Amino acid sequence: MSILDNRPALKAEIDRVAEVAGYLWQKGWAERNGGNITVNISEFADDEMRALPAIAGPFETGKKLPHLAGCWFYCKGTGKRMRDLARYPMANGSIIRISEDCAHYEIVADSAVAPTSELPSHLAVHDYLLAKGSPYRASLHTHPIELVALTHSRKWLQKDAATRMLWSMIPETKAFCPRGLGMVPYMLPSSVELADATISAIDEDYDVVMWEKHGVFAVDVDVMDAFDQVDVLNKAAQIYMAAKSMGFEPEGMSDAQMKEMSKAFNLPK
Ligand code: 13P
Ligand code: ZN
Repeated sequence: MSILDNRPALKAEIDRVAEVAGYLWQKGWAERNGGNITVNISEFADDEMRALPAIAGPFETGKKLPHLAGCWFYCKGTGKRMRDLARYPMANGSIIRISEDCAHYEIVADSAVAPTSELPSHLAVHDYLLAKGSPYRASLHTHPIELVALTHSRKWLQKDAATRMLWSMIPETKAFCPRGLGMVPYMLPSSVELADATISAIDEDYDVVMWEKHGVFAVDVDVMDAFDQVDVLNKAAQIYMAAKSMGFEPEGMSDAQMKEMSKAFNLPK
């Protein structure tokens, strides 16, 4: 028995998470248990689901999340592998419900898999998105090799330095990651400080932010779109790297060419 039985819309959403988890592994971005995904699945909660008893908890969320009362999330399990989640999403993740006090969660299904250690960042960002009236329902954290490598240089940690370079590698990058890449200075993984800094960066008007020397955190309407934004950014980083390894500094598109893109495709920046 699974909570996904007879809930085809919910199952389709979880299948998308599993599909993306497989891509993360194939990309080489998900060593061991690296990365995590959470999706706000509240729209799929029915009366029968709401009546289900908790199988574990309540546990503290670590922070009061005023917009998440009664919300439902699918969360990757802490220590679980993306490559395993790709085949068995409900054995490597769980469905949780936020308590009415906005400070606790309970695990409801299918088994008591403890959510990702990055839950503070994920939930804080979901809370922020709901407060803003955003249609975004998915957040994705992963360890893309070339993007993480960039954050080992002060040059690319400067505000929008990496964004500009990445956008200039190939026009699609600006078209499909139109807000660019925010930067969050190094902070302890899973900390509430990292969660707060992630929200500040997203609030500066980014959908994708780098956690210095660690990984990316991306938000979008669903997990496939969040993945696509990271994918186009990392592709641009790979083009930069390919040019450098051919022995030259890539020219990049000009400012005028990038402005022309923004105008032609009505991009926000
Ligand atoms: P979890 O296994 O707890 O999700 O942690 C993976 C990770 O990437 C931490 O930043
Ligand atoms: Zn990580």
